[in-house]
Amino acid sequence: MDKLFGKQLKYISLIILVLGVVLIISNSNYHIPSNNEGYQPEQPIKFSHQVHAGELKISCLYCHFGAEKSRHAGIPALSICMNCHKFVSASSDSLNLEEIQAEKEGRDIKTVISPEIAKIYTALGYDEQLQPSGEASKPVEWIKIHNLADYVFFSHQAHNNAGVNCNECHGEIETMEQVRQVSDLSMGWCLDCHREAGENFDTAPERTKLLSDCSTCHY
Ligand code: HEC
Ligand code: HEC
Ligand code: HEC
Ligand code: HEC
Ligand code: HEC
Repeated sequence: MDKLFGKQLKYISLIILVLGVVLIISNSNYHIPSNNEGYQPEQPIKFSHQVHAGELKISCLYCHFGAEKSRHAGIPALSICMNCHKFVSASSDSLNLEEIQAEKEGRDIKTVISPEIAKIYTALGYDEQLQPSGEASKPVEWIKIHNLADYVFFSHQAHNNAGVNCNECHGEIETMEQVRQVSDLSMGWCLDCHREAGENFDTAPERTKLLSDCSTCHY
């Protein structure tokens, strides 16, 4: 009797374990390192690639200049944002709205400061007139979206030099209000492209063979 009960218990715990794993995998909030396709966290400042890279057509490399000469593309420092936001404190829509409102009310136009752009000023230790606020500066903690396991070697420079476009791996970033990881960054994903590098990019046949070697991506 005891033995039978023990066996049932084993089955029950196995079922609970399987259900648990299915639940974890199907719960999209569960963040599996490196394979988190579809990951789209909310960032501390509502920075839009659709506005900056899409509408304003700022080159990816203006902000992610690391991609040209290092492994990492990097996230730009706030000083890069200030090249423009020293002068641009709000969207043209809200500036136009204030102009119309001021004319209607017969008063001077007030400075409009977007709450999201104000976060850049606060982080740099400035007040809204761009004078030192007396508060210490404090970097914006952007959430890293793409994460490869430490045992994989990857370099942006190598791909950039070979003419592989950002979009091949990151999708249509210039249409995204909020960045989303579109590829699963799995080994199969890397290899699928590497095997066809000779056809799709001008990689020499002997180089193409090398691109599938374990030691190309693993130390
Ligand atoms: C061949 C695929 C591929 C291409 C092409 C590519 N990336 Fe990436 N990108 C990745 C991978 C993989 C990661 C994650 C790297 C890691 O965790 O070490 C990444 C990470 C990033 C990051 C996060 C910060 C960092 O440096 O790790 C940024 C920003 C980025 N890429 C921008 C770009 C831009 C801009 C371009 C085009 C100039 C580009 N990428 C081209 C695959 C690619
Ligand atoms: C080359 C110029 C330029 C650079 C560099 C730049 N921006 Fe902008 N940004 C603009 C312009 C212009 C607008 C207004 C677009 C519009 O009229 O809708 C804007 C809009 C914004 C907005 C939206 C404001 C609102 O309330 O609608 C935010 C937030 C923002 N930028 C953050 C940043 C951050 C963070 C950086 C640095 C990582 C940055 N920008 C770099 C030009 C720039
Ligand atoms: C004005 C500066 C600016 C420009 C231009 C810009 N980016 Fe970014 N990018 C950022 C900032 C700031 C972040 C971090 C916040 C976020 O995720 O939106 C970022 C994040 C990213 C990420 C996610 C990094 C991670 O954490 O894994 C990718 C991928 C990326 N950018 C690719 C691109 C590509 C491709 C282009 C050109 C089509 C581009 N960016 C243009 C500023 C910029
Ligand atoms: C969209 C296509 C594509 C994807 C996806 C891709 N690669 Fe590549 N990769 C290339 C091409 C093309 C080359 C350059 C071949 C040449 O030398 O001409 C390359 C070169 C490399 C190199 C060789 C660097 C050198 O010079 O020795 C490494 C390492 C590498 N890739 C790692 C990765 C890893 C890791 C991933 C997945 C996370 C990945 N790649 C995904 C196309 C891709
Ligand atoms: C083009 C790059 C690339 C090449 C070539 C490559 N790998 Fe990988 N490998 C990866 C990436 C990326 C991951 C991480 C996948 C993940 O996190 O899910 C990985 C993961 C692994 C893992 C961890 C287990 C797993 O499945 O996640 C092992 C083991 C492994 N690779 C062995 C190999 C062996 C053996 C070879 C040669 C036959 C090889 N790799 C060639 C990119 C590569």
